[in-house]
Amino acid sequence: GEVITVAELARKMNLKASEIIQKLMDLGVTATINDSLDSDTATLVAQEFNCQVTVRSLKNEVEIHETEDRPEDLKPRIPVVTIMGHVDHGKTKLLDAIRHSNVAEHESGGITQHIGAYKVKTPRGEITFLDTPGHEAFTAMRARGAHVTDIVVLVVSAVEGVMPQTIEALNHAKAAQVPIIVAVNKIDLPEASIDRVKQQLSEQGLLPEEWGGDTMYIPVSALKKIGIEELLEAILLQAEMMELKANPNKPGVGYVVESKMDIGRGAVATVIVKNGSIRIGDYFVVGTTMGRVRGMFDDTGAKVSVAYPSYPVEIMGFDAVPEAGDKFHVVESEDFAKEIVAKRLELKRIEETNRIKKIQMENAFQSL
Ligand code: GTP
Ligand code: MG
Repeated sequence: GEVITVAELARKMNLKASEIIQKLMDLGVTATINDSLDSDTATLVAQEFNCQVTVRSLKNEVEIHETEDRPEDLKPRIPVVTIMGHVDHGKTKLLDAIRHSNVAEHESGGITQHIGAYKVKTPRGEITFLDTPGHEAFTAMRARGAHVTDIVVLVVSAVEGVMPQTIEALNHAKAAQVPIIVAVNKIDLPEASIDRVKQQLSEQGLLPEEWGGDTMYIPVSALKKIGIEELLEAILLQAEMMELKANPNKPGVGYVVESKMDIGRGAVATVIVKNGSIRIGDYFVVGTTMGRVRGMFDDTGAKVSVAYPSYPVEIMGFDAVPEAGDKFHVVESEDFAKEIVAKRLELKRIEETNRIKKIQMENAFQSL
């Protein structure tokens, strides 16, 4: 809703109302002194004068308020683990070994080009795994993968050693402040050197436990299925130390890791639930898209009626393809969803106008 009048804003910023009105016109907004502005407009116009509107409640109009969880509402949740590393070092193969599946052999060109999301049952509990591409072109996907996860498993070929995307992946994990477990892969090959990987990564700050540091290194062969149990143990040990919790009894919040237009099913998205639960029939908002959960599916294509914290699910029922990386929010009603989307679109429009104005200005200066 409207939060501040032009007159009030002018007073707060020590400006003449006419200056604000002029600036609003530059932004494509027509207003008089007694008109009220919403928070986005107020924020934008304030920015133009190098002022910041920092009222919390204003931001929540578009950001959607999330209630703090009381400790008694928090329940243990399963870990989300993202597999990262240089191209061809064996990430997908490793997940195949863990899942007893065969994804790697059916990928086009033998490289992963999207984020795969799987929930895996192990004898000691479930784990959600995200597979990311190692090809250098997919930086954004790696960043996204590191952002939504609890733990990163960094896969490094014992034959090739540390390579550019190994370092890149490591930096994403560091930026996201996520603990890293190193899986030294391809140890079945004669040229394999586990120590060299340890040496190289020690230089990057990942000192192995056995050398007095605190990083777990697990030698594995995804091909020969060596070390898989040990890797799962290490992951679950790390997860246990983190005491991961969430409140399943509130509206779901998650992140879109993948989205696409599916012939027959319309816009679909893979969502990782961060907190709360997502249920069939829930209304939701993601960026400037919205919808109602018409169907949810796990990685085997089986129907899911409730997606609990840490679950990866494919969701059907969007009005348009949402942007990967955007936050998914269950909201109480369709009307509220529409309201949020309208505000976000308005903000986007204003930002766009602003940007075009800036470009025009720059061009004008160039032609002088
Ligand atoms: P991108 O997703 O494209 O980054 O590659 P990736 O890291 O997922 O590699 P992928 O699992 O597709 O494996 C690449 C190649 O390495 C395939 O030919 C695998 O069969 C082979 N490979 C994977 N793990 C091992 C292993 O432990 N030993 C041997 N010898 N080969 C392996
Ligand atoms: Mg792969």
